[in-house]
Amino acid sequence: MTPTSLALACAIALTVTAAEGASVATGTQQTVRGIGASGAWWVNDLAHFPDSVRQNVSELLFNPTTGLGLTDWRYNLGGGGVGVTNPSRVAETPYISDGVYDFSADAAGIYYLKEAVRHGVPIITLFVNSAPTAFTSNGQNCGGSLNIGRLPAYAQYIADVVSYWKTQGIVFTHVSPMNEPDNSFSGCGQEGMSVNILQRGQVLQAVASALSNAGLTTKVIGDETSWALQFAVEAPLWLDSHVGTLLDGVAHHQYNFLPGPLQAVMTAEARSLSGGKLTWSTEICCFKELLDSDANDPLSLVDFGAKYDPTMVGGLRMALLIHQALADAEDEHWDWWTALSSSLGSCTPASNASCVGDVNYNGWEDGLIYYDPNFATDSNFNIYLTKRYQVLKHYSRAVPYGAILRNVSTSILGSESRWRVVMFDYPQAGTPYALVAMNAQAAEGSITITGVDGFTIPSPKIAFRTSVDEDYAQISTPATASDGSLSISAPAMSIYTLFF
Ligand SMILES: *[C@@H]1O[C@H](CO)[C@@H](O)[C@H](O)[C@H]1NC(C)=O
Ligand SMILES: *[C@@H]1O[C@H](CO)[C@@H](O)[C@H](O)[C@H]1NC(C)=O
Ligand SMILES: *[C@@H]1O[C@H](CO)[C@@H](O)[C@H](O)[C@H]1NC(C)=O
Repeated sequence: MTPTSLALACAIALTVTAAEGASVATGTQQTVRGIGASGAWWVNDLAHFPDSVRQNVSELLFNPTTGLGLTDWRYNLGGGGVGVTNPSRVAETPYISDGVYDFSADAAGIYYLKEAVRHGVPIITLFVNSAPTAFTSNGQNCGGSLNIGRLPAYAQYIADVVSYWKTQGIVFTHVSPMNEPDNSFSGCGQEGMSVNILQRGQVLQAVASALSNAGLTTKVIGDETSWALQFAVEAPLWLDSHVGTLLDGVAHHQYNFLPGPLQAVMTAEARSLSGGKLTWSTEICCFKELLDSDANDPLSLVDFGAKYDPTMVGGLRMALLIHQALADAEDEHWDWWTALSSSLGSCTPASNASCVGDVNYNGWEDGLIYYDPNFATDSNFNIYLTKRYQVLKHYSRAVPYGAILRNVSTSILGSESRWRVVMFDYPQAGTPYALVAMNAQAAEGSITITGVDGFTIPSPKIAFRTSVDEDYAQISTPATASDGSLSISAPAMSIYTLFF
């Protein structure tokens, strides 16, 4: 091609692609099983709140019509907090000695576990930061490792806990026996234990066997490594097709905050090593822009770091993580870290209620809902919803347990490159259920979504939007045009869910 015809061809390609917006194909990807968060730690504070507030939080998290309708709840089976210097990052343990338990322990955590079950949350996961001290190398709940000589007893302890709660009507569908086993948490700011890489397969095997010997159908997930780059190096040392048969999902975190296509490399490796088991993204939080100049750009690179951001920037940053996990990495499950947090940083809401709506760089992006860390002295029992809470609703409502991701491709050119679109079929492939589209630019924008390969987008029946000024507000539905395309015009920094 001559330079001129090349330029012309590029211009035509640009025009065509730009006009395409997003295209939705007939093909589908993975089935999504669970969107959730954890009850680690904050449940202890909430135990001191009025019952009406505890109940309100339960409805906000689990109620599928008035709240998020989470489809996974991660219950933290505690180690007892021995050696942990931060008293708010521990959980009581029922373990007294091998085979002897006090199941009245951890009433604070059990409260929300029961609430999740009462609301019919389909996935209930038990996860362990640290085993009780009888199973750790240093007699503490931090800074040590799992004592492999005590593995059979540890596996039996987990099976006994699951069996007991089953008799009480609380069925754990999944167990994760080691959360972030790459880290012993030697700083002792929280419970944690490391597990030797070469022993992780053995741990998963022992727990899977103990559960099945106890006649339980509870499945095992693992290993919840902290960083994607670490997973890439370590997984070949513990994950193989035999371990794959023991797992219901290969669970990972990804605190490197890698771009979606690189997350996809990690999850492809997990599927390949495990003989085809799909991956679960089971914990993420706590992001801050890598470059200060990107403070208001939800699509910017981020890193782990202190920032409290209740605004749409924080909301859409979380949405981007969900989008990457589901659409790029093909995870079949996604969890935020803790549902509630008191990490408000420099904001003291009892003396200045308006600061809960403002960004500060002393708090953390670790909760969906916040509360006053000084509640015990100032009796401020208010709870504060962030935009992350509102944005998560767009996915938790659009993606019921068993929803199937439909292939969508979005233009990578111009302003449309700042949109992210996913669509789901439910209850079976071929039945369009919902579409989530976000406009991650600081300006109004629009996108045209077209069916391709013979797929026709039905007319949406109902639509909701979260923006700077709206919280999951019902809005008028865009109509499907005569050519079958659907155009969405959106205010700056907004996210839509359309139901079909
Ligand atoms: C889309 O769907 C087809 C099956 O129809 C599948 O082969 C393909 O890998 C899917 N994913 C993408 C990203 O196109
Ligand atoms: C309340 O906090 C905000 C920052 O979030 C600050 O701008 C404002 O001045 C504070 N008001 C008072 C009365 O301190
Ligand atoms: C629950 O908390 C939210 C957020 O603070 C509040 O808007 C709502 O009124 C509360 N609902 C009840 C029933 O207390």
